[in-house]
Amino acid sequence: MNLAELESLTLPPHLNRMAPPDFSALNFTNWRNTSAPFAIEIGCGVGYHPIQWAKQNVNCQILAIERTKIKFEKFCRRLSQHANLEQQIFAAHADANRLLPHLLTLNSVDNYFLLYPNPEPKRRNHRIAFSTLTKIVVATLKPRGRLTIATNIENYANEVRHWLPLKFSLILERETKIIKDDLLCGRHRFRSHFEKKYLDRGDCCYNFEFRKTNPF
Ligand SMILES: C[S@@+](CC[C@H](N)C(=O)[O-])C[C@H]1O[C@@H](n2cnc3c(N)ncnc32)[C@H](O)[C@@H]1O
Repeated sequence: MNLAELESLTLPPHLNRMAPPDFSALNFTNWRNTSAPFAIEIGCGVGYHPIQWAKQNVNCQILAIERTKIKFEKFCRRLSQHANLEQQIFAAHADANRLLPHLLTLNSVDNYFLLYPNPEPKRRNHRIAFSTLTKIVVATLKPRGRLTIATNIENYANEVRHWLPLKFSLILERETKIIKDDLLCGRHRFRSHFEKKYLDRGDCCYNFEFRKTNPF
């Protein structure tokens, strides 16, 4: 896929009708330090993961996107207690479908995180393996860039494992299954609120790390 193709990706009609995202591109450009490795989290919820990730990756920046207002506001309150992370985390209240095509260039992102995205099993075009958003994610990922996807839904995990390497220039580098015992005996520290909720109630969580193999 080239830049023209990325720009011309057809968004579903309900997204095309929506107004541009409430997002200051100028603030984002001023915040972004292009020499720092750059990650994006889509659907960060109340923001536990981007905050922990930023603390562990002090030379990196992360754009954390959440479209649900109440969750985004909780995230901002949480973030306001970490003034030292201002240069590392940019919080965006937006739908990633609309934000990312406006914001990014090809091959510009080092890492993407999709932790427990809400799958819509009946709407094929909205699921990770078949969505426009995934095309945008892969197109904007740098060669050798990493895409981390986690889910607690087995069918969804099967779909991701099978289709992503077939449809995109991605290879599956690592797959991990996480269970409650891993939390209890300290083998795994939960990364997000939903991960904790799913593990606490006994779900198995699947974690996939893909690498992009080729530039577009
Ligand atoms: C199941 S929650 C998981 C939240 C968080 N990642 C966690 O693991 O605790 C999925 C989140 O993704 C958000 N989301 C789904 N699609 C999105 C999109 N296109 N753009 C931004 N946020 C999105 C939802 O609003 C919701 O908060």
